[in-house]
Amino acid sequence: MRKHAFFLITMLAVSSFGAMLAQDDFCPAGLPERPALSRHIEQADILNGKLSFDEVLEHGEELFTVLFNICDGQGRPATTGGMVAREADEMAFSRVSAPDSNSCFSCHNQPRVGGGAEFVGNVFLLAQHADPILETTSMMSSNHRNPLGMFGAGPIEMLAREMTGDLIALRETAIAKAKEQDRSVTIALVTKGISFGELTVAVDGSQDSSGIVGVDHDLIIKPFHQAGTKISLRQFSANAMNQHHGMQAEERFDLNPEIMDPDFDKDGVQRELTIGDITAVTLFQAALATPGRVLPDDPGRREDAIRGEQIFDEIGCASCHIPQLPLESRFFSDPNPFNPSNTMRDMSQMVSFDMTADGPKPRLERVGDGAIVRAFTDLKRHSLCDPPEAPDAIRFFCNETLRDSRPDVNGRHGSEFFITRKLWDAGSSAPYGHRGDLTTVSEAILMHGGEGRASRDAFTELPFADQRAVVEFLLSLQILPAAGS
Ligand code: HEC
Ligand code: HEC
Repeated sequence: MRKHAFFLITMLAVSSFGAMLAQDDFCPAGLPERPALSRHIEQADILNGKLSFDEVLEHGEELFTVLFNICDGQGRPATTGGMVAREADEMAFSRVSAPDSNSCFSCHNQPRVGGGAEFVGNVFLLAQHADPILETTSMMSSNHRNPLGMFGAGPIEMLAREMTGDLIALRETAIAKAKEQDRSVTIALVTKGISFGELTVAVDGSQDSSGIVGVDHDLIIKPFHQAGTKISLRQFSANAMNQHHGMQAEERFDLNPEIMDPDFDKDGVQRELTIGDITAVTLFQAALATPGRVLPDDPGRREDAIRGEQIFDEIGCASCHIPQLPLESRFFSDPNPFNPSNTMRDMSQMVSFDMTADGPKPRLERVGDGAIVRAFTDLKRHSLCDPPEAPDAIRFFCNETLRDSRPDVNGRHGSEFFITRKLWDAGSSAPYGHRGDLTTVSEAILMHGGEGRASRDAFTELPFADQRAVVEFLLSLQILPAAGS
């Protein structure tokens, strides 16, 4: 760890939770089996510098790759993947409603640890709430989603956080102005040049949210999950640990004021994952290498890849897949202040590192005090669905039948809306589309209807050589080989 870059803000007020339980006690007596995880770490030891940044990342990688077993607390007989109590169930695994796998790495492994997966790693989303679902993978009972990779996830979380800060500040200004001027005030919700519609505030502070587009009405940009429903890597990781593995984070269960049950899942193991463990797995993902660009050796293809970026811009792809966005700060910090109440958000426990100077290479690009994020997204939700009655309607990406928290927009069903997919790893992230059922980049382009229809049609109208250049450009965006730390 480079100490100067890993700010240790305040000491953790040591948890009154008591001593770590010896997890060996939960393994069958007399047998040589032990927890798969070699140790747990305490947040206090991260904050007071006893553990170096590298040691924390190493522990995070172990948490991400280890095959959890019952001695670790794997399984959640009395808790659903949706985190509510259920009648204790003997069924240890269910491929549909989970526990569905043994480690994060089981799905996040392409091209290496921390990446996405092919179709076999798909998750049956929302089945966790109807847990258990054992007999059907029908799209009437779950939304099928293909795993995304987390290379560059730290910069993505920080972009969303800065944008959320801007939107909330705009709302505050409108509230103050409405009161001061004794009239209703309408403001444009624009951050980093991206418009999220408008908000009207009445004199009494009440809000008309019907003009908001591309983000939930709380104005919190949730960059994770393809539908844009999760705020931070920490929130996602605590959910995923419970859903996929039945590993329960103490901040979510044992110490959560709404639960305060040290063994909520009734598997006999307490403190399955400490606050320090969740910090480690969060920082491991946040610090993963930044995707980049690999130009082909062949001079013709190389020229295509360079020219393709220009054409991508000219035909309107870059209006959603924004090539680069600026970060005012180059530091990643955890916890995220916008975390929901069931995820740790005590800012006195904050840890942070410089994304341009620490962690595995290649790293984020520094510009001044901030950084530049070349992710090809606007972190905004769009609908790629043509109206069903249109004669040549393209509705490939409109296949989800279950509703989640996405709000309806202008009378359109919220479940049509997905965050503009990051493309900075497009050459390493096959298969494509939220369901992972498209095998090539060009198929994914052709499936853009709705808000993407005009640029998709412009693509099909290009001379073949120019279409080839656009695809060559997209394939050059890759997760780069590991380059040390
Ligand atoms: C069974 C496969 C599977 C396992 C196991 C799994 N994931 Fe995922 N992961 C997915 C899928 C599928 C998505 C995409 C979800 C979506 O878009 O709705 C995803 C998305 C994510 C994302 C958000 C990425 C983004 O950019 O939106 C994070 C973070 C993540 N997973 C972390 C984890 C962690 C941490 C673990 C282990 C505790 C884990 N996952 C285990 C399948 C899996
Ligand atoms: C209106 C905004 C918008 C425009 C314009 C747009 N896209 Fe997209 N793009 C999206 C969204 C949203 C997704 C996610 C679709 C899904 O999986 O549901 C996506 C997904 C993709 C994917 C799939 C990537 C993956 O890893 O699965 C590719 C490739 C892509 N777009 C390329 C393009 C190209 C090339 C153009 C221009 C011809 C373009 N897009 C125009 C919003 C847009």
